[in-house]
Amino acid sequence: MIYLTRRERFSAAHRMFRSGLSDEENNKIYGKCSNPLWHGHNYVLKVTVKGELDPDIGYFMNATRLKEIINEKVIVKLDHKNMNLETDFMAGRVATTESLAMAIWDELKAPLAAEGALLHCVRVEETENNYVEYYG
Ligand code: NI
Repeated sequence: MIYLTRRERFSAAHRMFRSGLSDEENNKIYGKCSNPLWHGHNYVLKVTVKGELDPDIGYFMNATRLKEIINEKVIVKLDHKNMNLETDFMAGRVATTESLAMAIWDELKAPLAAEGALLHCVRVEETENNYVEYYG
């Protein structure tokens, strides 16, 4: 198996909250990421796929195709958006980095498989100091 990782970046607004709770209760759970007036992050997304090398071609997946799929399925839906309100695949999910990584996995798994690439890891970096990795 060989592993290929593509990095993408996007800027998005969010608010972490549960709709049944007051602002005060949400603030206790989620802290400043629960600001009712929203806030944003400059996110870094790293998507790792794996596959068997085609010895004639020298790779298992064209990196440009990987970039196109990530952009089409994920980045255009997040970049300069409010992910709570505008990103269809975040509907019904609390907008944590964890939920975001899992939702991105769900968006990418099938289209990547159709290209012969197995999704291995979705890594979402919310800040320089915090990141989440999801392995399915
Ligand atoms: Ni935040």
